[in-house]
Amino acid sequence: MNPADHLIVALDVPNRAQALDMVERLEGNIRWFKVGLELYLAEGRPIVEAIRERGFEVFLDLKLHDIPNTVAGAVRTASASGASLLTLHAVGGPVMLAAAREAAEGLAQKPRLLAVTVLTSMDATQLHATGIAATPAEQVIRLAEMATDAGIAGLVCSPEEVVSLRSSRAKEALLVVPGIRPASSVKDDQNRIATPADAIRRGANMLVVGRPITGAADPAGAAAAILHEIAAAKA
Ligand code: C5P
Repeated sequence: MNPADHLIVALDVPNRAQALDMVERLEGNIRWFKVGLELYLAEGRPIVEAIRERGFEVFLDLKLHDIPNTVAGAVRTASASGASLLTLHAVGGPVMLAAAREAAEGLAQKPRLLAVTVLTSMDATQLHATGIAATPAEQVIRLAEMATDAGIAGLVCSPEEVVSLRSSRAKEALLVVPGIRPASSVKDDQNRIATPADAIRRGANMLVVGRPITGAADPAGAAAAILHEIAAAKA
């Protein structure tokens, strides 16, 4: 077991120079980087290719949500970058999810698709405002099981949902979990948080960590401490 297989560093930066600077600072420790909308909309496919050329795997977090035909096309285009993981919104529905899965299956370079359930920024009040009467916890299970039934083998969820997902119909899913804060670091704007060790012990497969590493005075040292915590939790 290599702890670096369980850690994804979120490159929430606006441009290529800042992204590649962070990649270089973390070289030797880290295997996975996440490219989200901010960086991808500025730099496009070449930034994913540049990170991959340096020997890393890329999680492309585009959270696709549109009509099935459009999402299928976006999956094909985004996958040409060589990203290993790609997100889409589960709330797009079973037909959209199945179209995305079929599009990915037809590709030579297939990313693993991850369905985003309920964004961690959504609470009961926000959900109700969109017409959903279920609690966030209920809605996560509903969307996770729907995504599983549509053949999507991975999910993005908060640390709080890992245990209940492991006893749902989505129990075999690859669970990718943001909202991770080492005990020593600040919460920032994250609310439903867990330490790296807690998230791994609950059953998370991969942890997404941004500011506790990228905002640290010594990012490589912060990453090494988290990797150590992951290794200890898995031992
Ligand atoms: O800096 P921090 O560790 O909070 O970064 C977490 C990363 O995970 C960010 O890139 C954020 O967009 C992402 N994320 C999240 N909650 C979700 C989905 C993605 O925090 N539900």
